[in-house]
Amino acid sequence: MREKILVANWKMYKTIDEGIELAECLKEKINGRPKIIICPPFTALSNINEVLSNSELELGAQNFFYEKQGAFTGEISPIMLKDAGAKYVIIGHSERRNIFGEANELINKKLISAIENEILPIFCVGEKIEDRQAGQTENVIKRQILEGLKNMSRENVEKIIIAYEPVWAIGTGLNAKPEQASEAHKFIRETLNEMYGDKLGENITILYGGSIKEDNIEDLGKMKEIDGGLVGGASLKCDSFVTIWKKLKSAKNI
Ligand code: 13P
Repeated sequence: MREKILVANWKMYKTIDEGIELAECLKEKINGRPKIIICPPFTALSNINEVLSNSELELGAQNFFYEKQGAFTGEISPIMLKDAGAKYVIIGHSERRNIFGEANELINKKLISAIENEILPIFCVGEKIEDRQAGQTENVIKRQILEGLKNMSRENVEKIIIAYEPVWAIGTGLNAKPEQASEAHKFIRETLNEMYGDKLGENITILYGGSIKEDNIEDLGKMKEIDGGLVGGASLKCDSFVTIWKKLKSAKNI
């Protein structure tokens, strides 16, 4: 179902106490739409889950391994995420792809496992600067989508949130222009329509991510192709994330 959503990806920031303080502040100041999903580090999941109980704010994780259990030292299973209260999980973030070597094949296994285990994926795609400069943006995104969603049914793909995060915009302070992001979102919808037919692309939530800040969310949010945002750095401070949420709300007239 296509929705307006703002996701906070805390990455490898916040101790448990710091996370609780931030989540309590967000819970107090945010209510209703756009929907909020907070993705703390694993260690704080269960505590943040407690803070968010009796609120509309939802909980997600940043990563997992696709097996239910087993001898996989250092990994976390989808069952464990659910146990800690996570309803969503980020899959295929560019930091996982580029720092930890996650390829489309592994990302595909994770997407299938998340759906099987009833955790909703936030599936990230996006090109590097060299891809864009070489005119390869659409080819790269298309390959990430085709290989990432391999063997997945239309019914299951409908449950996925997609995040377009151009790698050159992440943590750089240089966001994609609203038109650039919108073009990529449109291309993602067209690719999904080609794969699954019957306008599937129009029913999928697609978020933009990459240097979202208080001063650019309004223009990004006004684009009809963009359903919301995946926020890194600016999600770590209560006031800036609340302002981003309020501005997205007004840009979307909700
Ligand atoms: P920044 O908002 O810090 O650029 O990070 C974006 C991101 O990677 C969110 O997943």
